[in-house]
Amino acid sequence: MNGDGERAGDRPGTASDALVFFGATGDLAHKKIYPALQALSRDGALDMPVIGVARAGWDTDTLREHVRKALMESDAPLDEAAFARLAANLRYLDGDYRDPATFAALRRELDAAGARRPLHYLAIPPALFATVVEGLGASGCAEGARVVVEKPFGRDLASARELNRAIHAVFDEEAIFRIDHYLGKEAVQNLLYFRFANAFLEPLWNRNYVDNVQVTMAEAFGVQGRGSFYDDVGAIRDVVQNHLLQVVSLLAMDAPIDDDAAAVQSEKLRLFRAMKPLDPRHVVRGQFRGYRDEPGVAGDSNVETYVALKLGIDTWRWAGVPFYIRAGKRLPITATEVVVNFKQPPLAIFDEDQRAHGGAPSANYVRLRLGPEVVIAIGARVKRNGEAMRGEDVELVARHQPAGAAPPYERLLGDALRGDGALFTRDAAVEAAWEVVDPVLGLPAPVEPYEPGTWGPPSARALVPGDAWHDPREESSAPC
Ligand code: BG6
Repeated sequence: MNGDGERAGDRPGTASDALVFFGATGDLAHKKIYPALQALSRDGALDMPVIGVARAGWDTDTLREHVRKALMESDAPLDEAAFARLAANLRYLDGDYRDPATFAALRRELDAAGARRPLHYLAIPPALFATVVEGLGASGCAEGARVVVEKPFGRDLASARELNRAIHAVFDEEAIFRIDHYLGKEAVQNLLYFRFANAFLEPLWNRNYVDNVQVTMAEAFGVQGRGSFYDDVGAIRDVVQNHLLQVVSLLAMDAPIDDDAAAVQSEKLRLFRAMKPLDPRHVVRGQFRGYRDEPGVAGDSNVETYVALKLGIDTWRWAGVPFYIRAGKRLPITATEVVVNFKQPPLAIFDEDQRAHGGAPSANYVRLRLGPEVVIAIGARVKRNGEAMRGEDVELVARHQPAGAAPPYERLLGDALRGDGALFTRDAAVEAAWEVVDPVLGLPAPVEPYEPGTWGPPSARALVPGDAWHDPREESSAPC
């Protein structure tokens, strides 16, 4: 950021002058958007009309009360001064998204406020994205505007293409901001930074030295009242197609020519295109016991709450290196962690090594904890005190930060308001990611049950040779 508060990627004179958010009464607004709006108001980045749209029969005062209540329940404490600033800008617009009168009324609101470059945020069920975009187009509300689209962007490759077509009929690609909130996380941005701001990693970061890469996104909680959403989606669509493939792309891409958004996005796209479509034989889908009793979940649901899979990347850098990914609800811990395991040394000079590791990946690894706390650590062996040449595993910890970086929605909404698309996903990349998961969506084979609080169904263990899954509960990468 320079002294004027501008950043690389800002397009001067194109900042939005109104924020319209569809889905004002929804869960996402409640949990994520209102805290972000409060933070942006606190920082003076939201001095503009903020129009919430929904069909709840509310008025502006009801919305203000609702926002205040949501903030009091959120992790971000209520900041009276920032809230007052936000509340003064808030307006509520009641209407059905299928009714042209809703958009005509929105147009009047925007005109009355003198807004020429509104940002429309679609925090609504995906089935309504195309309807709202059409309404924006037909009413003239899309002129000079940008649109932020929440995930999941489509249900599969075909529907993502269709959705891209529908949105492109109204908005140019530069005006479309597809959110993946993982890209707004400091620790995820650091993957790219850590890799390419240091010289020592690059010579090792390839098939010659890397044995395997593991990405675990574990959540100790269940579907938290989102049963009807989740039961329509499942773990692969909910977090693999987007968050976890984004993480893999940042881990595995080649160096961009500079930090310009287009340069980074084009390298990521090359990587997405090199990912092999998933093979159902290398995918294990599980469902925690008790899931079918959750409100909103079908009694005979075959939707996965857990997935473990092996992904291949066909590039000179990565050919033959397995990328193991697993994600699930009701696992033993809440943690997202990447471990890059290096190969064993070419010769076992100190013969204790083989026994100590029981054939598991070598003691050399890079561990990147992405949340809730942030850790960057490198695993190594050092000699223990004593006459014998015996050693132990140690970690060289480069950073260990407790949880609490700025929440991603604040960063991403701020970027979208300024017109900076660097941390949003592009049409081609989102389609390429769907191409990877498409073969394993809606597999007919029954999901395998697992007990809450365990690491998923037993067959997931066999996916990694020697059951050498990394356990994020341990400080070292010893297998669990
Ligand atoms: C969301 C998923 O996109 O990401 C949720 O829909 C998941 O199911 C959440 O729990 C995890 O995000 P975070 O930032 O809490 O790791």
